[in-house]
Formats: sequence, structure tokens, C-alpha cells
Amino acid sequence: MSLDIIVGTQWGDEGKGRLTDLLAAESDIVARFSGGDNAGHTVNVADQVFKLHLIPSGIVHEHTTCILGGGMVINPAKLAEEIDQLTPLGIDVSPSRLLISGAAHIITPAHIALDGAQEKSRGKASIGTTKRGIGPAYTDKAARRGIRASSMREPERFAELIREQVSQAGVLLTKMYGSEAPDADSAAVAYHAFAEKLRPHLADTASIISTALDQGKVVLAEGAQGTLLDLDHGTYPYVTSSHPIAPGAFVGLGIGATHVRRVIGVVKAFQTRVGEGPFPTELHDSIGEHLRGTGEQLWDEFGTTTGRPRRCGWLDIVLLRYAARLNGLTEIAVTKLDVLSGLNFLKICTAYQKDGQEYMDIPEDPSHLGDFNPIYEQLNGWESNLWQTRDWEQLPNEAMDYVRRIEKLTYLPIKTISVGPERSQVIHRMEEH
Ligand code: GDP
Ligand code: IMO
Ligand code: MG
Repeated sequence: MSLDIIVGTQWGDEGKGRLTDLLAAESDIVARFSGGDNAGHTVNVADQVFKLHLIPSGIVHEHTTCILGGGMVINPAKLAEEIDQLTPLGIDVSPSRLLISGAAHIITPAHIALDGAQEKSRGKASIGTTKRGIGPAYTDKAARRGIRASSMREPERFAELIREQVSQAGVLLTKMYGSEAPDADSAAVAYHAFAEKLRPHLADTASIISTALDQGKVVLAEGAQGTLLDLDHGTYPYVTSSHPIAPGAFVGLGIGATHVRRVIGVVKAFQTRVGEGPFPTELHDSIGEHLRGTGEQLWDEFGTTTGRPRRCGWLDIVLLRYAARLNGLTEIAVTKLDVLSGLNFLKICTAYQKDGQEYMDIPEDPSHLGDFNPIYEQLNGWESNLWQTRDWEQLPNEAMDYVRRIEKLTYLPIKTISVGPERSQVIHRMEEH
């Protein structure tokens, strides 16, 4: 009975995809439990780069079964596109190993149009969404008028549901937002074809996962987004519309909590955020530029999904402790340690200050983060490039100190450290634990 859950501990893009790829080597099933194609997960194997938005990052390994869980919202056009992109790369995406839960909800062209129109109408208060229709699709789900993936079993009926939804939302789009509405008839035709293509993938995924766990198999739950983007517990309203935290895996996959073995929090060695919202440790100087990179390399801080430059700053331990508590983390994996090479000094935010008072933890939830000023601890930087480093002992002392300091401040072991985007650029650190 082994359920391992991978979650992002920050604002997304921590490197969940590459960690999932790493742990998928020892997993039987890899399952996404929330979000949609707002996610962009990168896996680098030798000179091949896979950018996955809906399909679990475990797909790159041949032996895994991959599942799109019921907590997800799926744009069938994007899923069909992703399947078509992976096939010529020699990745098996057949219905025998890529399964879709019937409980997942369908994103329509009207959801995407509404996402754009709502963002526009928010003006200066815009969230900076990925405009993939995520919020409107989850809105329909909560309002009990959504279209579930199981409807694809009957393509004619599914097309009819799409036609109805797109034409009804069209009224809202034109009358309330003054926007153009997508054409309901052409949406129905396109979605009929998607249903024909995708319906063989539909399966009772919750039961498949439960049976696998009972048989002693290893199931890896791949989180999308990050803890601080959680609808209830993140920096509301600058959040996504789902639950990227570990408890979201139980609801999103339809399984109980008894099976959990590890909850692995992925922590980027610094802090990044795409879109709007508070960010206490954000840097607007040359160090922020250093962390972001130039945009010319694949691993630089430009959104995998939207290509937007990511906002960068120092690691925030106050928020990391919050993420550890909320997710019930059992360990941490640190990514992108290599990016810190070449900085003379490093800072870690260990507490906040507000009105002369110090806070080790955020007093309530992180929606009022903007009111706090970070208190920093300074550490020494290092010069050497870490890309070839594979052993803990080979790291510069300053890099070891940085990692050990994070462990001390979070009371959590760091067992995995990545020092480059490629699959093999990893340090497995078991000896000190
Ligand atoms: P995810 O959404 O959490 O899966 O993360 P993304 O794939 O959106 O963003 C992480 C980016 O960092 C990708 O471009 C990865 O290839 C890259 N990356 C992951 N780990 C490392 C690392 O250890 N070093 C460097 N330089 N890049 C990394
Ligand atoms: P992965 O899985 C980073 C952000 C958006 C925006 C907010 C709401 O790759 O880590 P949405 O389109 O979800 O309604 O946008 O959430 N966001 C992400 N930021 N990584 C992601 O996914 C994200 N998914 C959503 O930028 O601020
Ligand atoms: Mg990403």
C-alpha cells in the first residue's frame, strides 16, 4: 500500500514534472489529481524535452500506467494535441496505459472565452490567469452544470451538451462582457470528434488505483500548480480554482488517506511566481535577473504554458513552513540549486515583520501577505558550476550549508537535490538521514 504524493510548495513551476519523472521509475501508476492545461511540466531526458500540460509526467517511462484523475478539468483539444505530439516521439499513449476518469470535467471554448473576458473586466485587479478556461470550468462544476468526461462515451449526446453550453455561455459573453462568443455548432462538431478519439481512454480510475494499492503497487500522485495557488489556502484571490495540496489527491483521485507513504514537497531553491498577487521576497534587481536567466535556455524562468517571464525572489521559509504544515510533508526535494552558483551571497527569509512585530509564521492565511516585510538571514554564495555534481560530498561547502539550513528551518529531510534540468542531474542524499 504505497501512495506517494508530489506537491509544489510555492507558486507552481517548482520542478514537479522532473521529480515525477524521477520517481516514476519506481512507480506502477502515475496520476494527476487536479488542475488542467494551466500546468506545464517539463521533463528533460538527454536532448529530448517533453512539455506536458495534461498527461502525467510519468508517461516518459515505458512501464507506467498514467491517469488523468477526476479532480482535473480537461480541454479535449489540448489532450488530443498532446497525445498526437507524444506518439511520433515513440511514447505509448494508447488507451491501455493512458486512462481518463469519467468524473473529470470538460473545458469548452466558451470557458476559455469567459476566462479571457473575466480577466479583462477585472482591469487592474486581474489575476493573471493562464486563460485556459480553468476558473470557468471549475465554476460550472461547483454550480452542478458542468460536462463530465464520462459524457464522451456517447459522442452525439456529448456534442449536444457542448452546443448547449457554448450557446448559453455565449449570451453571458456578449451581453455581460461585450465579448465575441464562440460558434456553438462548430464547437459541437469538433467535440464530437474529440469524444470519438478520447472515449476509449475512459475508465473507472478510482477503482483501478484502489485495486493497485491493495495489491501492493506503488502509485505516484503528481501535483500541479503549487500550495500558494490553492483555492482555499493560497494567496486568495490570486489563486487557481482547484486544490493542488496533498489532501487534493484523495478527492481528485477518489481514494482514501490510509495509503500514504511519502508526501514530497518540491521546493525551488528560490521563489518564483507567474501572474499577479503578493510576493514578499520578490527581487527587482540584478539578482532577480540572475535567478530568471536570459530566456535563451530551456530551463530559464519563463512560463512553460504561457511563456510569461516569472517573477523571482529569495527563498521564503515562512511560506515553506506553511506549505509543510498544510501538505503534511514527509520530505523535501530541492530543485535548481545550480541556478544559485555565481551569487556572492544568498538570502533566506526566515520571518516577517509588520508594525514592529516579528512573525515566524503567517498569522492567518497568506491572502494578506502584501502587508508583511521579510526578515532575511544571509549565507555565503559559491562560484562553481554544479551541473556535473552527482554526490553530496562534491558540493561546495556553501551549497551544503544552504541545503542544511533549509532542513533545519523546516525540520524536514532533503533527500533529493537537482542541479540541472536533465534527468540525471540529481543528487540522492540518503547518508545523513
Ligand atoms: P513544474 O511545473 O513544477 O513541473 O515545473 P516547470 O517544468 O514548469 O518549470 C521548471 C523548469 O525548471 C523547467 O524548465 C525545468 O526543465 C527546469 N528545471 C527543473 N529542475 C532543474 C534544475 O535542477 N536546474 C535547472 N537549471 N533547471 C531545472
Ligand atoms: P504548474 O503545474 C505556475 C497561476 C497563473 C495565475 C493563477 C490562476 O506548471 O506548476 P489559472 O489559469 O489557473 O486560473 O491561473 O495561477 N498558475 C500557475 N503558475 N505554474 C502553474 O502550473 C500554474 N497554474 C496556474 O499564472 O497566477
Ligand atoms: Mg510548470
